[in-house]
Amino acid sequence: MYNPDKTIKQSPLILGIESSCDETAAAVIRGRRLLSSEIISSATEQAKYGGVVPEIASRAHTDAVAEVVNRALTAAGVEIIELDAVAVTYGAGLLGALLVGLSFAKSLAYALNIPLIAVNHIRGHLAAAYLQDEALKPPFITLLASGGHTAILHTESYSGFNVLGGTCDDAAGEAFDKVARVLGLEYPGGVNVERLAKNGEGNIKFPPCLVKNSEKLQLSYSGLKTAVINYCHNAEQKGEKINPCDVACSFQHAAVDPLVKKTVESAKKLGAGTVTAGGGVIANGYLRETLATECEKAGLKLILPEKKYCTDNAAMIAAEGLIQYNLGNFADMSLNAKAQIPLK
Ligand code: KG4
Ligand code: ZN
Repeated sequence: MYNPDKTIKQSPLILGIESSCDETAAAVIRGRRLLSSEIISSATEQAKYGGVVPEIASRAHTDAVAEVVNRALTAAGVEIIELDAVAVTYGAGLLGALLVGLSFAKSLAYALNIPLIAVNHIRGHLAAAYLQDEALKPPFITLLASGGHTAILHTESYSGFNVLGGTCDDAAGEAFDKVARVLGLEYPGGVNVERLAKNGEGNIKFPPCLVKNSEKLQLSYSGLKTAVINYCHNAEQKGEKINPCDVACSFQHAAVDPLVKKTVESAKKLGAGTVTAGGGVIANGYLRETLATECEKAGLKLILPEKKYCTDNAAMIAAEGLIQYNLGNFADMSLNAKAQIPLK
């Protein structure tokens, strides 16, 4: 098995593997330079059921994992034998799904006698920004918004971050998905809400995603989600027609504007000059535009990963793998998958 006393390389060639939900992904980086990023998704299959069915996800990962790794190596123009480390998502996510990527990564690391690196999926989302700007260094503020988390973080060093605040109930992505369902849109919901919102007006007053009278940086999505559901159900009971584009647009304003405002306020308060972002909801075009405008107004530098590196991918897993590699944090063959990992 890999001996951790071996020299740490300057710009290691790292393979990242991700299989926590419905995307089987593999990517190769050399140092911070991204060489390839490949995804085989079972989202179309899952859409028939209106959400991710864990058993279907696990089976799809089993079918796709070797293929996606081969594609990533070929696209990067490297041989498997050249790899310096394998980074893999060990949690949080669907247990069966995680185990497919994890077992594959373990066998590769063992066979090649290279380090295995355990990556926390959420830290992967944060690390996507490092690929966007190779010069990015802590400290910075991050807006994290995914299907399971919504928080504003302060990364002080490569080894850790502080949670400045976040949602006390649902995550932003969950709210997008619930609103999509109420509007009869297909899974995955967020991007479909965004599509409708483009043709709508923000003329319906939904409660913003904030906790009333809270001193702390606290957000809440459950009230907003319920308000949208009630609005649609009330109209249906009265036999009135709703304008789904206006509902989507008004919801988007209520879900995004306070999030952006709080992120910028936090950066200003802490005197941080740089803001980054990560997670599936950061792929939202309206959020990206608003965040860019507000950061510019406040004189903050914004590092926004490309949309494809905000939603689940393996490039971000390789990027976080590099951070752990440089810190000398290697896993051994007893590494197990975890369905849940607390944010902090
Ligand atoms: O980060 P992610 O891909 O998976 C998790 O780790 O959770 O985030 C998925 C979430 C879903 O709730 C999805 O609806 C949302 O991100 N999402 C979006 C958009 N693209 C994905 N929400 C709003 N607008 C989008 N364009
Ligand atoms: Zn994710």
